[in-house]
Amino acid sequence: MKVLGISGSMRKDGNTAQIVRYILAKVQTAGIETEFVSLADREIKPCTGCEKCKETKWCVIEGDDWSAVAEKMLEAEVVVLGSPTYYYDINGQMKNLIDRTYSFYHDRKLAGRNAVAVTVCADRGCERSLETIEGFLNTHQFSYLGHVCGKAYLPGEIMTDARAVRKSDEAARKIINLLQPHD
Ligand SMILES: Cc1cc2nc3c(=O)[nH]c(=O)nc-3n(C[C@H](O)[C@H](O)[C@H](O)COP(=O)(O)O)c2cc1C
Repeated sequence: MKVLGISGSMRKDGNTAQIVRYILAKVQTAGIETEFVSLADREIKPCTGCEKCKETKWCVIEGDDWSAVAEKMLEAEVVVLGSPTYYYDINGQMKNLIDRTYSFYHDRKLAGRNAVAVTVCADRGCERSLETIEGFLNTHQFSYLGHVCGKAYLPGEIMTDARAVRKSDEAARKIINLLQPHD
């Protein structure tokens, strides 16, 4: 698949999910294949720091959904990575997903892919969430297409944040230009 959108929120249809899906919907109008993954209904265990992945080059933890999501990331040309802000940073589920991609760092499996970072907070802290996601993207040598920092509290409020919607339109346009440069 070309463009993979991931929402780390445990609210299946929360603000992060809605704004990530909004970007994917825009991209789809250009005939580009997209897929949306919510981590809300997935079990993603935390990294144990065992360092075995230095040899196996894949996370050795079994019995959860990490590998299925990680495989989708490897298949994607563009990843739209979204997280709600919990205590001025990304939420635990998204952090678990990211931490276990350490197993891909040893041979730079994710390098060369493109990414858009999406964070949502009610009031303050989404900039730091963004820094965390950017740290992940830089470490793995993604090309960075841009970010959306949205303000919203209750599920659905994000779509009334005009700036976030505008930034999402921009992000979608960049993805389309990247994947269909002649259109
Ligand atoms: C445990 C928890 C911690 C939160 N911490 C912050 C915070 O530090 N700053 C903030 O502005 N909003 C905070 N919020 C509010 C959420 O970021 C906000 O409701 C956001 O829209 C949730 O996105 P979602 O609907 O995608 O889950 C917190 C919410 C929860 C449940």
